[in-house]
Amino acid sequence: MSTAAVDVELWVWPLDIGADERGRLFAYLSDDEVARAERFVFDRDRHRYIAARGRMREILARLLGTTPAELRFAYSSHGKPSLPVALHFNLSHSEGLAALGVSRTHELGVDVEHVRPLKEDIAERFFSRAEVATLRALPEHEQLDAFYRCWTRKEAVVKAIGEGLSRPLDSFDVTLGAQSARLLRMDGERDGPSVWQMAHFAPATGFQGAVACRTGGGALIVTRET
Ligand SMILES: CC(C)(COP(=O)(O)OP(=O)(O)OC[C@H]1O[C@@H](n2cnc3c(N)ncnc32)[C@H](O)[C@@H]1OP(=O)(O)O)[C@@H](O)C(=O)NCCC(=O)NCCS
Repeated sequence: MSTAAVDVELWVWPLDIGADERGRLFAYLSDDEVARAERFVFDRDRHRYIAARGRMREILARLLGTTPAELRFAYSSHGKPSLPVALHFNLSHSEGLAALGVSRTHELGVDVEHVRPLKEDIAERFFSRAEVATLRALPEHEQLDAFYRCWTRKEAVVKAIGEGLSRPLDSFDVTLGAQSARLLRMDGERDGPSVWQMAHFAPATGFQGAVACRTGGGALIVTRET
């Protein structure tokens, strides 16, 4: 088991920006990204997509010493973007906010969610039995935040693995508490849950976020960049 610490740079930025800045970011997009932008039905979604992709290109290009438009993303069979260099990254967006995690050494997953009231019982549908039991044992006024902590941690793990929803969400358990973000159980993880490390972050008021990485046992050190 490796005990080397893994450093992650975390970038957070708003997606609802002015037309001039959006125009500058749009110029970085590849043909397939332009085509995808054009497929959005609502302007607001298209604008946010441009702001997320364009700024992600800008950040990654600066770290790599290249220009944003030159980056060529490859996509896994489940749609996870990557670059053919030693720079791992994962993007997440929710409402008007984006977060990007970057590591020089390890695959990682990032998730941000806008905290909003739930219309249906999503926990029963997606969480493991242990997570649902932990959630329901909490006082009612604490359950919404705990729900989103659980959701973002699970999503960050799934995104680190890159399999999307083909990994059953009840095949692993995460903590729900505010203090310690941890993996508690994962089916098929031969080295035990402690090879995974997680970090909770609060990207902005009304949002929750998580980073997950299979560090091999080393600490996960997340640094907010501006
Ligand atoms: C992409 C996926 C992994 C996450 O989707 P999401 O939470 O809706 O969206 P996020 O904003 O966090 O992430 C989207 C970004 O992740 C990246 N991404 C796409 N496919 C990915 C994958 N398979 N793995 C990791 N990252 C992926 C892309 O950069 C994408 O941004 P883009 O719009 O610029 O292409 C989605 O396929 C998925 O599995 N969603 C699960 C939804 C769910 O029910 N979760 C329950 C959690 S308890």
